[in-house]
Amino acid sequence: MSLLTTDITTEIADLKRLRHAVILAHNYQIPEIQDLADFVGDSLGLSQAAAHTDAEVIVFCGVHFMAETAAILCPERTVLIPDPQAGCSLAATITAEQLRAWKAEHPGAVVVSYVNTSAEVKAESDYCCTSGNAVKVIQAIPADREVLFLPDMFLGIHLERVTGRKLHLWMGECHVHAGIGPQDLLRIREAHPEAELLIHPECGCASTALYGVSCGVVPQNGVAVLSTEGIIRHARSSTAREFLIATEVGILHRLRRDNPDKTFYPVSESAVCQYMKMITLEKLARSLRDGVYEVRVPTDVADRARGAILRMLELA
Ligand code: 13P
Ligand code: SF4
Repeated sequence: MSLLTTDITTEIADLKRLRHAVILAHNYQIPEIQDLADFVGDSLGLSQAAAHTDAEVIVFCGVHFMAETAAILCPERTVLIPDPQAGCSLAATITAEQLRAWKAEHPGAVVVSYVNTSAEVKAESDYCCTSGNAVKVIQAIPADREVLFLPDMFLGIHLERVTGRKLHLWMGECHVHAGIGPQDLLRIREAHPEAELLIHPECGCASTALYGVSCGVVPQNGVAVLSTEGIIRHARSSTAREFLIATEVGILHRLRRDNPDKTFYPVSESAVCQYMKMITLEKLARSLRDGVYEVRVPTDVADRARGAILRMLELA
């Protein structure tokens, strides 16, 4: 660690104490941020951590919809994001107005929104879910009800496959995960045929991998579709020595740090979310120092969105 990094991490620790703040970080954050966060996890774990903290200030090192979710769950706390430009290409694929129009085409349908959505979209939804509990949420809805699932089509296809239900799917995608395609998977599997394959359900290659399993080309116990925290847990408990990781590359830091005796290969080196990487140590220090940038959700929107988020947490 350089002298400069030591100085700034000391400053962050001092400011954190002074402000009674907690630092939450997503698994895709840069290593320096992950290493000093109080909690590192997936969207579900971060929502749970926000809901349970008694800190006065939550500094959310992740993307904007995650900080918004924390602000909705904790209206009495101050929620800060170190860079307000940290958005999400998937959340941007649907607006509340588009969702209202879709709902009008399917009156009475249950709306399930992936947590990667704006607060306004959540306010129009019956349930939220994350990759960590999406299957449970779909299974909790009576089989005779129509379901609108949004916005990620690859996760939607995965849910149809696992639950055996037909869903109406919004055709959204995350540019990072959609970019991890079948060709990347085939290339890396050829190089490491013994490695276990752990895939995030937003990936464009998830269908190909599972098709490979159904054809017998890929051994069944060698593939798992998991949330980012699910990937971390699986790698820890598996007896395999090598893993192919199909998701954003930020997750490799924790995987390698926690499992020094195992080897992890990214399925695509270029799977980098530029929004997650906008959060730096300097911006985190400024956030704590100057109390920027506060994430606020209008009360009427937050009140309508909270029910869908709480239903997600009940089914965690
Ligand atoms: P997880 O909930 O699995 O952490 O995924 C969040 C996300 O944004 C994936 O890109
Ligand atoms: Fe959004 Fe994709 Fe980045 Fe996740 S990786 S935050 S889904 S743009």
